[in-house]
Amino acid sequence: MSKTQDEILLGVNVDHCATVRQARYRAHRLDHGDEVEPDPVTFALLCEQAGADGITIHLREDRRHIQDSDVERTRALIRTRLNLEMACTKEMIDYALRLKPDSVCLVPESREEITTEGGLDIVGQSARVGEVVAAMTEAGIVTSLFIDPDPAQIDMAAELKSPWIELHTGAYANAYYHIERDKTLAELVRAAKQAHSLELVVNAGHGINYTNVTEVLSIPHLHELNIGHSIISRALTVGIKAAVREMKALLAVTD
Ligand code: PXP
Repeated sequence: MSKTQDEILLGVNVDHCATVRQARYRAHRLDHGDEVEPDPVTFALLCEQAGADGITIHLREDRRHIQDSDVERTRALIRTRLNLEMACTKEMIDYALRLKPDSVCLVPESREEITTEGGLDIVGQSARVGEVVAAMTEAGIVTSLFIDPDPAQIDMAAELKSPWIELHTGAYANAYYHIERDKTLAELVRAAKQAHSLELVVNAGHGINYTNVTEVLSIPHLHELNIGHSIISRALTVGIKAAVREMKALLAVTD
């Protein structure tokens, strides 16, 4: 979907729909089209119908929520953009080059964490990340790097010629009711300005919800927000289409 000036796009992360499914059907084979609920691909299609601008899914090495068949069905069925979050491993790089999502977002991954914690250290693994950016660019896939709002990480994203970054908003979200809130927001504002001055497209995500999103919009130069947990959670109460519409309405309010 094309973006009008000042519009901030919404990518909905449907991983946690799969988390609920896996809580019951973990041992069930899911590659034969069996009717097991909830289906993250159905959720993705409903998100699109409600105005989502893209669908984000994270195929984890341990396959704890999204399964390969979910990714392939999503790729085949959605009409917006598919953003594949993935670790910087050979398995996932080969997978992405075969799948050809519209974009990949490189994230850190460790087996212990429940969801992604902390940004990818692209300074510490610049050679590897640079190779992945080059391979994706060559294949026509946009790369985004999920990084903390740290000046050195942002400089490196530009040096590695990643077209996009996704600023990790988790520290801000965790600090929302605490003393560090203003400081963490200021870091995101500064990081977004730095990234924009380096001609990076600036996305943001992690921990954004219906309460903090309005303040998140004070971060300049935002292109897209990737939001998962809060939308999937609200869907339990109001349904996924209403949950997406509510978030879209909040994103539309800018001044
Ligand atoms: N962006 C990235 C890179 C993520 O890893 C996640 C979490 O999977 C999100 C956005 C969405 O975070 P949340 O579920 O907290 O909205």
